[in-house]
Amino acid sequence: MAEAASRTPCGAGEQLNNLSLNDGEDDFVDPWTVSSKSETGIDYDKLIRKFGSQKIDEELLHRFEKVTGKKAHPLLRRGIFFSHRDLQSILNLHEAGKKFYLYTGRGPSSESMHIGHMIPFMFTKWLQDTFQVPLIIQLTDDEKALWRDIKIEDARQMAFNNAKDIIAVGFDPKRTFIFNDLDFIGKCPEFYQNMVRVQKCVTFNQVKGIFGFGDGDVIGKITFPSIEAATAFSTSFPFIFENKIVPCLIPCAVDQDPYFRMTRDVAARLKLPKPSLIHSSFLPALQGVQHKMSASDPNTSIFLSDTPKQIKNKINKYAFSGGQATIEEHRQKGGNTDVDISYKYLTFFLDDDEKLEQIKKDYESGALLTGELKKIAIDTITPILQDYQTRRAKVTDDVMQEFFTLRKLEI
Ligand code: TRP
Repeated sequence: MAEAASRTPCGAGEQLNNLSLNDGEDDFVDPWTVSSKSETGIDYDKLIRKFGSQKIDEELLHRFEKVTGKKAHPLLRRGIFFSHRDLQSILNLHEAGKKFYLYTGRGPSSESMHIGHMIPFMFTKWLQDTFQVPLIIQLTDDEKALWRDIKIEDARQMAFNNAKDIIAVGFDPKRTFIFNDLDFIGKCPEFYQNMVRVQKCVTFNQVKGIFGFGDGDVIGKITFPSIEAATAFSTSFPFIFENKIVPCLIPCAVDQDPYFRMTRDVAARLKLPKPSLIHSSFLPALQGVQHKMSASDPNTSIFLSDTPKQIKNKINKYAFSGGQATIEEHRQKGGNTDVDISYKYLTFFLDDDEKLEQIKKDYESGALLTGELKKIAIDTITPILQDYQTRRAKVTDDVMQEFFTLRKLEI
């Protein structure tokens, strides 16, 4: 009996570990909560050890550049995408002239997206352009309806609004399929069949261990991970891949890793390729590196729809400063770029490595004052958002419809 209980119908006896970084230490990371008590924010090296993923090191960066023939994206060079699982196998495939597909997603939780939400999408667009591969974007409106007090109808609407925000990042319609769970799953039996294959492989005990579900959680939450997992298998999308088995690379924020550790474990048992992963750290909130941006607290975030005036005011008023209390003291001691939010944002949004290096030197020496650094951040972020808003204005319902249509993609 005891043995039967620990086995799943697809033959697994393996125990999946608790994957959240929660052992009474300073940092907490799981798919729903990210916080750190440490002054310098989350310790990402520790997270790598805890999650058992791999660090993206110089050697891998070189290999990446060699295989793609392109300079690595700033988000990669600067270690913002800092960790991975099996990225080498994707590079090997590309080198051998074989295809893979990209998969990323978003839980549409609010009407308006902030710049932190954009980081994985900006990077995914670059990957799509670099590798010329199909991309699938999953909008988990079901997840949000299950986890929050949001009506099904409203969750769907948020998914459509968010889809427009995502499309405006610049994805190629010939290579990108976007879907929201609440509408798509009923249209695609093969997707549902893969969900059930996954469901057969994972026990309640295992999801409890991975996600911390308890007796009081609604049953939808317990099956939800199979929906996020099914998207990592090409056979879920016969209209794109014609039932071929195509490997998958998932760019995501590191808090999504628990879903994909589960997926990788299940893939092995279903004899499907394990998805590879590339993980990003979080864009910190304006208030400081201990927190990530949160859409529910507007003063922590710069929204994609913010006007130049709002961007300026938010950075001037809220961006945590690593500078000293007085100008004299600042000139003497210099500022701290490890905690300064305007500087952190520049590491995400300023492409020019030399300029960034100079800013760091000048701020740390005290030559550059906090107000001046804030101005550089404002002047860097504002045009990026203005360009984005111009593209966003062109995303009509018809444009959106194209991305949502079940169709073949260029492979
Ligand atoms: N669960 C994710 C969220 O809440 C959404 C998501 C679904 C996702 N599939 C993904 C994110 C794949 C990254 C990669 O935002």
